[in-house]
Amino acid sequence: MLRKTNGSEPAARATMTAMVHPAIEAVGALLRPTDDGDLATLRSFFDDPGVHEQWGGRPLTDHEILAKYTGKRAPAVQCFIVEEDRNPIGFMQYHQSDDRGGGLDLVLHPVVRGRGLGRAVVLAMVDYLQSARGWQLITVDPEASNPRGVDFWERVGFEPARLVEDEPGRPPYWLMKWPHEASGR
Ligand SMILES: CC(C)(COP(=O)(O)OP(=O)(O)OC[C@H]1O[C@@H](n2cnc3c(N)ncnc32)[C@H](O)[C@@H]1OP(=O)(O)O)[C@@H](O)C(=O)NCCC(=O)NCCS
Repeated sequence: MLRKTNGSEPAARATMTAMVHPAIEAVGALLRPTDDGDLATLRSFFDDPGVHEQWGGRPLTDHEILAKYTGKRAPAVQCFIVEEDRNPIGFMQYHQSDDRGGGLDLVLHPVVRGRGLGRAVVLAMVDYLQSARGWQLITVDPEASNPRGVDFWERVGFEPARLVEDEPGRPPYWLMKWPHEASGR
């Protein structure tokens, strides 16, 4: 399994991060906001070929991890380590694009896939974004070359809106939307 971080004391860090963003509880997992103390944990996670082959295609540098995944882009982008029994098993982020809402990204370590944890954390995040943040629009954008990712989002409840093939600098991807209003789930 993945290494736990050697950073600051977990309880102290939990208190600090709680001021920035609350943790989000899912069935069987916890979404814990990241901070600079998570560099070692994130490095271990993104160094795994089973992870980075579906997230960037190569191991991330320390600079990239610190700049993009430890809270520096908050509040527009909020980053979370997915934990199961306090062990890091994945990474999730949401990014707000306008007043209506924004998008989600998720990657779990290969050893925990296929057990329902992906669905659980997505449903918990959707619930949080609708009930606590008032999001009206929640999207995901899996690449068309990742049909298993597209299938996952569809199974969880997202609906394909359109295939985007003309965005500069991006390979074709499916724009998918959460179809339910907050009260409709
Ligand atoms: C996609 C991912 C997050 C799914 O997490 P998971 O915990 O394995 O998914 P779950 O076990 O919660 O499965 C939820 C549903 O999706 C389906 N599903 C999951 N992985 C799937 C796959 N590879 N192909 C087809 N369907 C899949 C499951 O069958 C399940 O549907 P069901 O309950 O109707 O049978 C995980 O496989 C992953 O991290 N993949 C690499 C990154 C990625 O592709 N991210 C998404 C695209 S951006």
